[in-house]
Amino acid sequence: MVFIRSILFKSLEHTKISKMSLTWRRLHWSIRLHGMRLTVSKMAARILERFGVPTAESLADSVMLFDRRFHVSTAGDVDTQSLNLSPQVREHAVEYTPSCPIELAVLFEHLNVTPSKRVFIDFGCGKGLVTLVATQFPFLSVVGVEYSDELCRLAQENVRKLRSLNPSSPDVSIWKGDAREYPLPDFPLVLYFYNPFDGVVMTEIIARLADSLVKVPRDCLVIYRNPVHRRILDEDVRFRSRQLPSLFSNRFAVYDWQSS
Ligand SMILES: C[S@@+](CC[C@H](N)C(=O)[O-])C[C@H]1O[C@@H](n2cnc3c(N)ncnc32)[C@H](O)[C@@H]1O
Repeated sequence: MVFIRSILFKSLEHTKISKMSLTWRRLHWSIRLHGMRLTVSKMAARILERFGVPTAESLADSVMLFDRRFHVSTAGDVDTQSLNLSPQVREHAVEYTPSCPIELAVLFEHLNVTPSKRVFIDFGCGKGLVTLVATQFPFLSVVGVEYSDELCRLAQENVRKLRSLNPSSPDVSIWKGDAREYPLPDFPLVLYFYNPFDGVVMTEIIARLADSLVKVPRDCLVIYRNPVHRRILDEDVRFRSRQLPSLFSNRFAVYDWQSS
């Protein structure tokens, strides 16, 4: 009985500590990506909200605060009809919606995405928000893959602005074209997908990825946000699903490639 209680206690303590440390990490990344002033006003807004007082600041989301801090423009959804996509791409594409920068940075840190030099690739990078967040980590290089001319132009402009603020950040490039044709580099990889396309394109890309990893064995981490088509990865035993804290597990699926 005492033994069971001590095990239970230990696991509860561990949950408390990891929740606490995730809260601290959120605060740390909020200060880094939103700035001190906006972080404090956001916290004040949260407190007011708890008492039922909505404020303009509390309504502004993390993406807008990130844009303000780094003088970039990544906020605002864009539907596929407004983008100049070819019919073969539009048929399978999902509209542009940006990821949440704080959530992403905390997750990257939790996953220890850069234990060694790796190339980061965002499939369907839109206005480039995720590539910009990735520059905060010591990747070998960062690539955004995007089909839409207009979104590529905005992503390039955003990358140029961020790099002018921080010239020593990792090299970032935007590759324009259909993600199905992107030639994967022979380096260890971290791949990010924010539900950019339907199951047809996802199946094709995961099959090409697996072929490339068999041909040139290397580490590969796949981060899939809003993993609508996760079945494709779950059914391939070479991709091992990682256990995530509950903060992330309902929005993300993460896989490590098992090179045998
Ligand atoms: C949900 S948004 C994700 C944006 C970004 N990754 C983020 O998390 O902030 C999906 C993006 O995928 C792009 N996309 C869809 N199909 C594509 C394809 N076949 N090749 C390249 N980009 C594509 C869309 O234009 C859109 O910008």
